[in-house]
Order: sequence, then structure tokens, then C-alpha cells
Amino acid sequence: MKSSTTMYILIGIIVVLAMVIIGILLYLNNQPEPTRGVEPLVEIDPMDPDSETWGINYPNQWSTFQKTESNSERTAYGGSDDFSKLEVDPRLVELFAGYGFSKDYNEDRGHMNSLTDVEGTARVGESTPGTCYSCKSSDNPGLWDQMGMAEYDLTPFMELGDEIEHAIGCANCHDAETMELIVTNPALEEALQAQGKDWREFTRQEMRTVVCANCHVEYFFKGDGKYLTFPWQDGTKIENIADYYAELQFKDWEHPQSGAPMIKMQHPEYELFTQNSTHYNAGVACADCHMPYTRDGAAKFSTHDVKSPLLNAENACGQCHTDVTYVTNRVSTIQNQVYETMIATEDAILSGIRAIEKAAAQPSVDTEQLDEARWLHREAQLRWDFISSENSMGFHNPEEALRILAAATDLARQAELKAVQAAGTPDIIQSETN
Ligand code: HEC
Ligand code: HEC
Ligand code: HEC
Ligand code: HEC
Repeated sequence: MKSSTTMYILIGIIVVLAMVIIGILLYLNNQPEPTRGVEPLVEIDPMDPDSETWGINYPNQWSTFQKTESNSERTAYGGSDDFSKLEVDPRLVELFAGYGFSKDYNEDRGHMNSLTDVEGTARVGESTPGTCYSCKSSDNPGLWDQMGMAEYDLTPFMELGDEIEHAIGCANCHDAETMELIVTNPALEEALQAQGKDWREFTRQEMRTVVCANCHVEYFFKGDGKYLTFPWQDGTKIENIADYYAELQFKDWEHPQSGAPMIKMQHPEYELFTQNSTHYNAGVACADCHMPYTRDGAAKFSTHDVKSPLLNAENACGQCHTDVTYVTNRVSTIQNQVYETMIATEDAILSGIRAIEKAAAQPSVDTEQLDEARWLHREAQLRWDFISSENSMGFHNPEEALRILAAATDLARQAELKAVQAAGTPDIIQSETN
């Protein structure tokens, strides 16, 4: 009798406790989802160049974006320290002889330095067109809208500078109202159109790459209007680009030693990456590695501290690769191999340049063959420069980088041989000591 009373009391306690626990769980489950981020606080004008205003509504993106100004860490081949590429590799001085890049050529830095760095380079002067501001400022979308790109490009750099106050900012990549990623550079819009593409139909994942193509591409200033143009009409592969420039008979400068009509490549990250690289074919976007998701308390957002992913590999690579040490070691191996191959290409081009210079000095030189040698110099160097000026030291697409460097070395040796033929004597290279 006594033990059954105790049992009823125990069962009673258990039932009451169970109901309390169920009650607590039901209460917790019915709480509203914690809100992520902050409700918009201010209205942002369309194309507002001032990132600080956008930052009121999106403090996490703004605070990480601001870090791009003070980043200064260097990596083996990249990073944010603006070291002189000419000091690291003096061959560049001769390769770019007669052109601004032989005087001043520094490693790139973070987005918030874009304006300081373009205005500080010794490459700009009285004759520089305004087009040079095209990928440096959040004032551009508004200016292109007001004046049109043709007039923008016709305005001299020094004059346009009065209108330009802000470094790269939110307005270069986002629509102020929807915050969606957009194409802001009319030259990109036109280049895509020429290929029959409309970015408004692209998927979100495609936009996470295409938004970088507003700036991280090869481009040139077309005609007397210095009209900003991407040379993509025949495709974005290096051979397509070389053919496009050849048809147009376009040159950036003439090499003073070889007399060749030269092309300077800019920074074709988009073209190299999208040319069947392993990551691109697997659907990986620029933003996956350079703007990985980051947590700050309850908030999850894309870091806007865009920089070398090697300085943030756990986040940048770890979301897809379990062995981060293995893949970052692979980066070193790839970059070292591309670098060594690239230096061999540079030596071959320099031999070509010197042979052409000596051949041209021979009174009996065959001028037709000499011109062929010059053309080979141009074709070799623009291929080499496509990889050299691309900022990942081949990592974005190792196979394509090595393929292009092999082609460049071959063309450079052909240039040297053609110079010998033009001179009619191998003496011009026999004294050569590289
Ligand atoms: C799979 C990851 C990955 C993807 C995708 C990727 N990158 Fe990179 N990127 C890297 C790595 C790794 C480096 C080398 C960094 C270094 O050498 O410090 C790099 C270097 C760079 C650099 C030079 C950085 C520096 O430190 O100077 C730029 C600019 C860049 N990438 C832009 C892009 C753009 C634009 C795209 C898309 C078209 C892209 N990347 C796609 C991983 C990636
Ligand atoms: C260089 C281009 C670029 C610039 C400049 C830029 N963003 Fe972004 N932003 C992105 C990309 C890429 C994403 C990822 C979008 C996606 O996944 O759809 C993103 C995402 C966002 C999102 C969505 C939430 C998230 O974090 O994924 C917000 C909000 C945002 N950015 C705010 C800003 C603000 C504020 C600024 C200026 C301080 C800014 N962005 C500057 C490229 C940029
Ligand atoms: C409006 C033009 C513009 C857009 C859009 C843009 N970039 Fe850049 N980016 C630049 C310029 C210019 C620099 C070099 C700034 C300097 O050296 O002062 C740069 C530098 C970089 C660097 C080197 C940073 C460092 O610290 O060395 C990386 C990495 C990079 N960009 C990646 C990207 C990625 C990824 C995207 C797309 C999500 C993107 N950029 C979109 C213009 C742009
Ligand atoms: C969004 C997912 C994603 C991110 C982020 C990513 N990778 Fe990958 N990576 C892949 C996929 C998918 C492959 C191809 C399949 C495989 O081999 O695993 C790959 C392949 C590779 C390979 C082998 C390439 C080859 O040609 O065989 C290397 C090396 C590599 N990744 C390095 C990196 C590094 C370094 C980072 C960070 C900077 C990175 N990945 C970021 C998805 C990613």
C-alpha cells in the first residue's frame, strides 16, 4: 500500500516535469526567427557614390570593405603590399622599354586604394585620357549615366579628376534599391551584347563572377575618342584577342629596340579564369574564393575584404576543400612552376628583341623578313603579358597559363630565327650572352 502511493507520487512528478519540458520546447520553437542583419535605416539614392551612406544600412559589408584600405600583407606572388614589380624582375624594364610600365609598375592593392594608386602612378600625365578612371571610382556609374561613356572617355584625366572623389565602392557592383549585383561598366555591357549575351538573364552564381568583369579584364582605348572597349568580339581566348588586335592594326606603343608594334595587356583575370579552368567548369565563382561567407555573431555575410585568398584560406578554400594545407601547397607548386616557365619565356623574348635590333643595323637587311620578325615579337610578348599581367601567377587556370607561355616562347624563338634570316648571318646572335 505504502509503496504504491510513493509510485503514484513519482509518476505524478514525472508527468508534471514532462509537461513543463514540452511547454518550454513549444515556446522556444514558436519564437520568431532572429532577424539577420539590420533593417534599412536610410534611403540610398540610385548610384550614390558615397559608400559610407550605404554602410549605415549594411555595417558588416562596410566594415569589412574598409579593411581593403589598410591591408598590406604580402604573399609569395601577390598580396596587398605595393612592391615594385620592376625591382623584383628587372627584365620588365627592357620588355616594356619605351612605355610607361618600364618606369612604374607596382603590385595591386585593395579596392579602397584604387583612386590614390591611379593618381599616384608616374604613368599618368597631361595626355592621359579620362578613360583611365574607368575602373577606379564609385563616381563612374553616375557620371556614365549623366554624360554618357563617349564623353566621359573624351574628357582629359586631369579635368575628369575634378568630378571624381570616391575610390571603388558599393555603387560599382550593386543596385541601390534591390542590392542585386549589376553590370555598371557600359564597356562590359557592350562586350557581352556583341557576343549575344544579356547579363540580366544570368544566374546569381554567374553574376558572382561577371560583376568582377566590370574591371578585371583586358581592355583598350579605341580610336581618337579613346573609347573604352573590351577586345572580345571574336571570343575571350588569347588567340581571339590577338586576332582582334591584328585585324584592327592596333598598337599601344612601338618597342624602341625591336621596332615592333606592341600591345600591353591589362589584368585579364576574368578571361583566364573562364577559359575552361577546373574551378570555373565546376561552377565556382570569383566571389566564392575572394568574398567567402563570414560569421559575426548571428549575422552571416559575404566578406567585402577582397584580397589574396591565401591570407584567408580556412574560409576561402575550407568551405569546399577539407584539406586546406594540401590545396594551399598546391597553389605554391603551381605558382612556382608558372613563374619559372614565365622567366624562361622572358629570356626568349629578350633574345628575340636583341637579335632584331642587331639585324636592323645590318645595311643589307631584308626589310620584309625584319617586319615578320617584329610581328613575331609582338605576338610572343602579348601572350606572355596576358599571363604576366594576370594577377594569380597562373593559379586561376594553370593548364591554360602554361599552354600560353609555351606558345609565347616558341614565337619568341621564331622571332630570333627570323631576325637571323633577315640579317643573312648568324653572327648577330653568336655574340649574344644572355
Ligand atoms: C578557386 C579560388 C579562386 C577563384 C574562383 C578566383 N580566384 Fe583570384 N586568386 C585566387 C588565388 C589562390 C590567388 C593567388 C593569391 C596570391 O598569390 O597571393 C588569386 C589572385 C587573384 C588576384 C590578385 C590578388 C593579389 O593578392 O594581388 C586577383 C585580382 C584575383 N585573384 C581576382 C579574381 C577574379 C576577378 C576572379 C574571377 C574572374 C577570381 N580571382 C577567381 C583564388 C581564386
Ligand atoms: C566589387 C564588387 C562589390 C562591391 C564594391 C560591393 N559589393 Fe556587396 N556584394 C558583392 C558580391 C559579389 C556579393 C555576393 C552577392 C550574392 O551572393 O548574390 C555581395 C553581397 C552584398 C550584400 C548581400 C548580403 C551578403 O553579404 O552576401 C550586401 C547587403 C552588400 N553586398 C552590401 C555592400 C555594401 C554596403 C557595399 C559598399 C560598402 C558593397 N556591398 C560593395 C560585391 C560587391
Ligand atoms: C570598379 C572596378 C572593380 C571591380 C568591379 C572589382 N575590382 Fe578588384 N580591383 C580593382 C582595382 C582598380 C584594383 C587595384 C587597386 C589598387 O592597386 O589600388 C583591384 C584589386 C583587387 C584585388 C587585389 C587586392 C589586394 O589586396 O591586393 C583583388 C583580389 C580583387 N581586386 C578582386 C576582385 C573581385 C573578386 C571582384 C568581383 C567580386 C572585383 N575585384 C571587382 C577594380 C575592381
Ligand atoms: C565553391 C567551392 C570551391 C572553393 C571555394 C575552392 N575550390 Fe578548389 N576545387 C573545387 C572543385 C569542385 C574542384 C574540382 C574537383 C576536385 O578536384 O575536387 C577543385 C579543385 C581544386 C584543385 C585541383 C585543381 C586541378 O586542376 O586538379 C586545387 C589545387 C584547388 N581546388 C585549390 C583551391 C584553393 C587554393 C582554394 C581557395 C583559394 C579553392 N580551391 C577554393 C571547389 C572549390
